[in-house]
Amino acid sequence: MTSQSNWIPVSGSGDLAAASARAVVLPDHDVVIWRTKTGAVHAWENRCPHRGMRMSFGQVRDEKLVCRYHGWGFDEEGQCQNIPASPNAAAPPTACIKTWSCTEKDNLIWVDVSDESAGEGSAMSGDSDGVSSLMFCKSVYTDGDLDKVLALVGSARFLPLGYDGDGRDLDWSMTDLPDLVGDAIQILVSGAGSDQIVITGHQARDGRCGLHIMTPSTGDHDLDRQRRLHYSKWAKRLRWSLSNPDAAQDGFSVFS
Ligand code: FES
Repeated sequence: MTSQSNWIPVSGSGDLAAASARAVVLPDHDVVIWRTKTGAVHAWENRCPHRGMRMSFGQVRDEKLVCRYHGWGFDEEGQCQNIPASPNAAAPPTACIKTWSCTEKDNLIWVDVSDESAGEGSAMSGDSDGVSSLMFCKSVYTDGDLDKVLALVGSARFLPLGYDGDGRDLDWSMTDLPDLVGDAIQILVSGAGSDQIVITGHQARDGRCGLHIMTPSTGDHDLDRQRRLHYSKWAKRLRWSLSNPDAAQDGFSVFS
């Protein structure tokens, strides 16, 4: 059995294109996340069982992740199916990669790298009450422990899209968001303009963490595109501010 608390948001869904792979570094695990051409996502140990090449350097071909070094191809269960140097021989059953549970929810990719998850498909349940139809905007990476960084983010100030005042008539509040699995906060802006931003993240290695910035979708395609751009820019400013704490005051304040 796996528990909800094992799930880690490692990427925005929109940051992993069809037929692509990329590395995710967690404190105790090197992970490759990859997406098939038809859209399924998988999370594996980022190491080829042949000579140890990182699978994140590989290519997705015929719904298999193919190692860049000698071309071994692994199916969606992590089992090797092709060895180019021995085209007529079946791959040995031991030629397989450790797999973990992986799913998509709220436009994020979540993995469960607990021992219980290895080799099985654990399910993730639960709705994000109060933040329906979340839209992923951008991920940023910064130094620091995730809990501390999330607390710092709460002091960030941003203006709602299209708001043309100086922000003095707006109220900001930050709350934990326990209904979103994993550590998450929401920032609510109210007053003459109103908006909501949701931030979750994952701890990486060497004291770094990733933050995933989201906001509710309006259902209007053009408006959502503008909102995504708006909060993507905000996310970049946030990363800069977190990396330059002496200048953070200016970076965050809407009154400056
Ligand atoms: S190292 Fe991956 S196929 Fe040889």
